[in-house]
Amino acid sequence: MARPPTPEAAAPAEPTAHAGDEAASTPRPPAAPPSHVYPIGSRLNAAGRLEVGGCDVVELAREFGTPAYVYAEEHIRARARAYRDAFALRSDRFDVLYASKAFPHPAANRILSAEGLSCDVASGGELYMALRGGFVPERIYLHGNNKSEAELAYAAEQGVGHIVVDSFDELERLERIAPGQAILLRVTPGIEPATHAYISTGQEDSKFGFGLDELPRAIERCGRIELRGLHAHIGSQVFDLESYAKLAEVLTAMGDFPLLNLGGGLAIAYTSDQQPPSVDDYVETLLAGAPDGVTVLCEPGRSLVGNAGVTLYTVGTVKEIPGVRTYVAVDGGMSDNPRPMLYGARYEAEVADRFGGERLCTVAGKHCESGDILVSDILLDDPRPGDVLVMPATGAYGHAMASNYNALPRPPIVFCRDGDARLVTRRETYEDLALRDLV
Ligand SMILES: Cc1ncc(COP(=O)(O)O)c(C=O)c1O
Repeated sequence: MARPPTPEAAAPAEPTAHAGDEAASTPRPPAAPPSHVYPIGSRLNAAGRLEVGGCDVVELAREFGTPAYVYAEEHIRARARAYRDAFALRSDRFDVLYASKAFPHPAANRILSAEGLSCDVASGGELYMALRGGFVPERIYLHGNNKSEAELAYAAEQGVGHIVVDSFDELERLERIAPGQAILLRVTPGIEPATHAYISTGQEDSKFGFGLDELPRAIERCGRIELRGLHAHIGSQVFDLESYAKLAEVLTAMGDFPLLNLGGGLAIAYTSDQQPPSVDDYVETLLAGAPDGVTVLCEPGRSLVGNAGVTLYTVGTVKEIPGVRTYVAVDGGMSDNPRPMLYGARYEAEVADRFGGERLCTVAGKHCESGDILVSDILLDDPRPGDVLVMPATGAYGHAMASNYNALPRPPIVFCRDGDARLVTRRETYEDLALRDLV
């Protein structure tokens, strides 16, 4: 059989000076990448190109092709330390769990386990990735509103420290499969933070956990299973710390337990105008609301890895509809980042070697969907075919939610540190797309 062609991982051409290009004749001072949106240490180099983890992203695009997910390792490390330091300053009874659903990758798991974090997994597959990433089983917490018998058995067999139980059916299942297992009970505390309905999980009308009315019966029902505490996750991309104070109050009123897991969800800046609370203020709020003597747990995902990653694309076409809109189409889209379509999530973008700009554009993906829009109404510096476009704050729930829609091979993942780039996941090939087919 003929070998399939290599998927078109675009390798952008050498940048060329364009006639009438102001940037080519009179270089203007480059705008700095907003430090709270881009990975820690990002900067524009002398050529005006973005550097992430000390690596020039235009060079990375040339070496690894586009689309590509690029991470600054140091950012992940620094955020893990910020969490641990914020707790350690105030308490010796705490644990920080990485909500690995945000980016369940062994390379991230390795960094975060080495930084002393525990891990939250939401499926057998994430458990497998956490173990591969060096998390010890005792420091893993298994979540899920409908864990299968096979997943529960796998967790018990691996010696997973805690299972976060979601329902009466699961309690019955667990008693059969893993009597003596240490558990937390997941509670829906009736708190609705201001966020998108699809990522709001703490309200009473939720598929997750036990309502407050049901909780006493669930506690009683635990029987031979070792109940160690309560868990609640009120939702994601939460700016309002008051919701966490309320949560701590509600859970504390439900009884005395050694562990209180107040979930994740701290917001990050996807765009420059967003100013999320600091990790320090967040941790202060959690601890202030919890009673003395209790070990306080939290499980951040996006606030550890979200701003650590950027996605690189290559511009393929620029379509101007006079008086209407200019579409800048890139070589990825909803398959590598479904969040704009799923949640209406807003991002920013820049031409990687010409930050700033005044041309109002809409960045579109290459999928056969009109809704495949990555960023609407963003000012760019006159994008042209061949330009590398960078979208920041894509480190969480991008790769994790990626699909092969339109049979697009999924992008590679590159970890950068001190100017060294390390490929941690290669680009999928067309052959990969057919790997599991039996016909
Ligand atoms: C139970 C639970 N914990 C933690 C998280 C992590 O949330 P975030 O990535 O917003 O911190 C989630 C996200 O969905 C979750 O469902």
